Amino acid sequence: MCGIVGYVGYREAYPILINGLKRLEYRGYDSAGIALLNGNFEIYKKKGNVRDLEESIQRPGSATIGIGHTRWATHGPPNDQNAHPHLSNAGLFAIIHNGIIENYAELKKRLFTRGYTFQSDTDTEVLVNLIEEIYQVGSLSPEEAVRLAMMKAQGTLGILLLTKEYPQQIIAARRSSPLVIGIGEGEYFIASDVMPIIEHTRNVVYLNDEDIAIIQPNELSIKTSKNAIQIPFIQQLSLELDAIEKGGYEHFMLKEIFEQPKSIQDTMRGRINAQEGYIKLGGLTDVLERITQARRIIILGCGTSWHAGLVGEYLIEELARLPVEVEYASEFRYRNPVLFEDDVILAISQSGETADTLAAVQLARQSNLLVLGICNVVGSSLPRLTNAGVYTHAGPEIGVASTKAFTSQVTALVLIALLLAEKRNTLPCEKIKAHIQSLIRLPELVEQTLQQTNSNTQELAELYKNATNFLYLGRGYNFPVALEGALKLKEISYIHAEGYPAAEMKHGPIALIDENMPVVVIATRDKSYEKIISNIQEVKARKGKVIAVVSNGDSKIRNLADHILEIPLTEDILTPILAVIPLQLLAYYIAVLRGCNVDQPRNLAKSVTVE
Ligand code: G6P
Repeated sequence: MCGIVGYVGYREAYPILINGLKRLEYRGYDSAGIALLNGNFEIYKKKGNVRDLEESIQRPGSATIGIGHTRWATHGPPNDQNAHPHLSNAGLFAIIHNGIIENYAELKKRLFTRGYTFQSDTDTEVLVNLIEEIYQVGSLSPEEAVRLAMMKAQGTLGILLLTKEYPQQIIAARRSSPLVIGIGEGEYFIASDVMPIIEHTRNVVYLNDEDIAIIQPNELSIKTSKNAIQIPFIQQLSLELDAIEKGGYEHFMLKEIFEQPKSIQDTMRGRINAQEGYIKLGGLTDVLERITQARRIIILGCGTSWHAGLVGEYLIEELARLPVEVEYASEFRYRNPVLFEDDVILAISQSGETADTLAAVQLARQSNLLVLGICNVVGSSLPRLTNAGVYTHAGPEIGVASTKAFTSQVTALVLIALLLAEKRNTLPCEKIKAHIQSLIRLPELVEQTLQQTNSNTQELAELYKNATNFLYLGRGYNFPVALEGALKLKEISYIHAEGYPAAEMKHGPIALIDENMPVVVIATRDKSYEKIISNIQEVKARKGKVIAVVSNGDSKIRNLADHILEIPLTEDILTPILAVIPLQLLAYYIAVLRGCNVDQPRNLAKSVTVE
């Protein structure tokens, strides 16, 4: 949510900022802006995406310091005025902000009474004027003014601030919204994630909550909001630049769908001993005993990560016989849940920055529970808040609709379930070895699924691109896949879609079925096979159009369904990983045919850092 980039050093800031914004655009794309400082501020801002901003800037000024922002609107509609950066009334400060100032209305009222006026509807403009007021009244340094303003402003913030009177300095401050500083030779790159940084340097420092950094060429100092000096902890990034480029694909989403054989392999790498038949998850070793003794596991997540959590529930309960509950993080955090001291929390997040998931984790930590994480982004907030966890190592996911993150999360959950099954003696060794053999074959089967379903999904997209509703049905392990398939379609093609457990269809959605309703049924050969055939018949009896995802060689459903998408046969526990692939492709091709912006669907953002 909202992308932030800043540069201070000896080079021209503008090209670094505009390219940085392009790399960050997946975080928000309703408006963008840049401030350069060279004696005076030069502010450029524009409704629309980064390209619109770039086209509107004829001749950018020359400056070696500047900040840039790409916005996902919270306060006020996307327009030029509400775009960041925002200037303070006396023109002393320019700010960009990611987060929400919850008490902004109250602060605004007070600033009004002191003569401040506002050009935008944003909470950010209130914050920059609050900083200016504190700075002027107290004759303080910008850093002190920011510290005091942070005490008055409630809510979340990641800010970069330029000060006219300190023309070589960027102040960065963080509360909940992520910020990372890239360290070059006499220059610094600041951003909300590493995407704009990796082409310049591999050395980075992640700011902690309540940190304030004072950044000048050749000088970085970090203090806490209580003014305690922090020694910057420099980490090395291992990411390669081509991992964040499209590599010949038309969209990041398609690239990421096709990367799944590799991303799944990377999730498993070094964690499976095929010969002896065991799983090793280094990140869980120290807490394994506690997990195996857990009264129950509560899985938390949002969006696609929540769907992966649902698969996790089926996996852990079936294989390790441990009770599991799956909750939306946003509900868990506000509903005063009953927790036991031997409960274990497992939070799942691709980005590691989803505000609701982080808040739910904080709540669990306050109750002294063991908190585990499954996360993709190394160095993000979630791994820093949890006691232990598993990285998915799927590589950067830039398409806003999550694809490879889901299959890697499910893969990590299979590993966790098998590890717990082994430790709790709930599965015979031979069975575990057989599952491991299937896991080893999985990347190859994912590749086969892509090859088998790519052109068929394109043909189906052509046939159904104008549908206004879709129903997705699945049972058992494939029920969460139905939810995920429907979510993919909604997110990127704006077609209304519902996912349902197939047997529940007759309790409501069946009323919607007529000859215009495409119904995607995941009907692989597993223990629900015969049951789901009956559900297909119920749809056909009402003239619905059935698109069935079936196992290779299926003959029964071929004669019943209008269309079939064949995928390789694998074990039930791994079927969701294969079955979701044609649904990702179908959503993708429909969205492309409808002319939608696949990588940046309207109103969405990749990482939702506000409530
Ligand atoms: C947003 C994204 C989804 C994602 C969800 C949770 O809504 O658009 O694709 O599934 O956030 O994100 P997380 O990073 O916590 O997995």
